[in-house]
Amino acid sequence: MGRLAILGALHEEIADLLAAMDPGAAIHRIAMRDFHVGTLWGTPCVIALSRIGKVAAAATASIVIQEFKASRVVFTGLAGGLHEDVEVGDVVVASALMQHDMDARPLFGQYEIPLLGRERFDADPVLSERLLESAGQFVRQGGLPAGPGGQPPRVHHGLIATGDVFVNSNDYAHQLRQRLPDALCLEMEGGAMAQVCYEFGVPFAVLRVISDQADHAAKADFTDFLVNLARVYTAGILAPLLKSGALREA
Ligand code: ADE
Repeated sequence: MGRLAILGALHEEIADLLAAMDPGAAIHRIAMRDFHVGTLWGTPCVIALSRIGKVAAAATASIVIQEFKASRVVFTGLAGGLHEDVEVGDVVVASALMQHDMDARPLFGQYEIPLLGRERFDADPVLSERLLESAGQFVRQGGLPAGPGGQPPRVHHGLIATGDVFVNSNDYAHQLRQRLPDALCLEMEGGAMAQVCYEFGVPFAVLRVISDQADHAAKADFTDFLVNLARVYTAGILAPLLKSGALREA
């Protein structure tokens, strides 16, 4: 049975899953990272902390695929909201990912990954559908903080934009919104992992929880969400899926 890889950029984003791994799980240290190899409620998994940014995510994705034979990869963590429909506390499951800082003009089109001839990488529809269903059940259970307008958190499916920038400025966020009107949120790893998975032919999905609005308050909002809520969401959405066997390979 192929292994499921679960990656996160920060410890808080994968902490509860690591704690739930079977006691016999082994830790392999490669390229300054720990790869936890074992089972999660019966599903063979490798879990790793990628660290932040595109290079870190690409290196980690390559290792789980080549060294640990991951047959699908899920990246989980926080993101800054970009689209006006997306609020702090909402969940975004990627339909596709792109790299908003890729710009090799005039040699290639803006956002085009040079010599791959594409800008966007489609997430696996089956994995993504499972994440969407579980995220929907999780937010409907209640108990999560309400959004700024008092509304319960919502679940979205759409484009995620990745770049090596923590966006902490109203102007930068506004520019990105104009340049990428269909992007729901932005983060710093998903598009790089997606490119590596595409190149290896390995299905992938990305699950993000909105921690901030990528504006002047992003640093404080992100830190607060990371400390208080990141693990509640990640475990609350992924644990039931793993327990039900829905992420096990047929
Ligand atoms: N991840 C969470 N918030 C972010 C932001 N504002 N910019 C980039 N990545 C993020």
